[in-house]
Amino acid sequence: MVKIAPSILSADFSKLKDEIKEVEIAGADYLHVDVMDGHFVPNITIGPLVVEAIKPHTKLPLDVHLMIENPDQYIPEFAKSGASIISVHQEACTHLHRTIQLIKDNGVQAGVVINPATPAQLIKPILADVDLVLVMTVNPGFGGQSFIKETLPKIWEIAKWREELNLSFQIEVDGGVNRETAKWCTDKGADILVAGSAIFNEKDRAKAIETIVNSVKG
Ligand code: DX5
Ligand code: ZN
Repeated sequence: MVKIAPSILSADFSKLKDEIKEVEIAGADYLHVDVMDGHFVPNITIGPLVVEAIKPHTKLPLDVHLMIENPDQYIPEFAKSGASIISVHQEACTHLHRTIQLIKDNGVQAGVVINPATPAQLIKPILADVDLVLVMTVNPGFGGQSFIKETLPKIWEIAKWREELNLSFQIEVDGGVNRETAKWCTDKGADILVAGSAIFNEKDRAKAIETIVNSVKG
């Protein structure tokens, strides 16, 4: 069964607590938190303070996606704030094994992310060490962008390596996921779908999640 991680980037921040409750009741499996620093990506969003503020209001695991330079500097703080999973970009890490180990040392599950133009081969050496691989299907920075189809073979490639190497990390996709694109991803082996605008831009969030889940069946 596919898992859904609504991205709060597309939520109404003036009533974040209610927005989170709504998607939790609607059947979300994770809450995807997009952290942007205005350097690694051209947008600034959420810091540890916000993660700490939402933590007591949800039972959903917080799936924290760091789109920042120098993630090592902030990992301990995000872990303390209540992150369940912290994912870092391969492109932002000079010493990827060291950074993944730092996440684990802070008692949090570790994920690695690749941008659409980054070959999957670049994360093959870290696959045995991660709990999650996140394949970006848009260039990170904003919600509501169009899905980049050329990323699809990478999902399949990573899923194939997972099988060959007998590993058990989850594969997540992020960006432009909706009722049309979701199945393309699950067909290639994606386990978790991040969706921002496809959920929060709909008035009925339960229906929005159900629509995505149903779209991948069959
Ligand atoms: C993009 C973020 C995504 C974004 C997804 O930089 O990492 O998580 O919020 O939004 P949609 O689903 O609208 O593409
Ligand atoms: Zn994200």
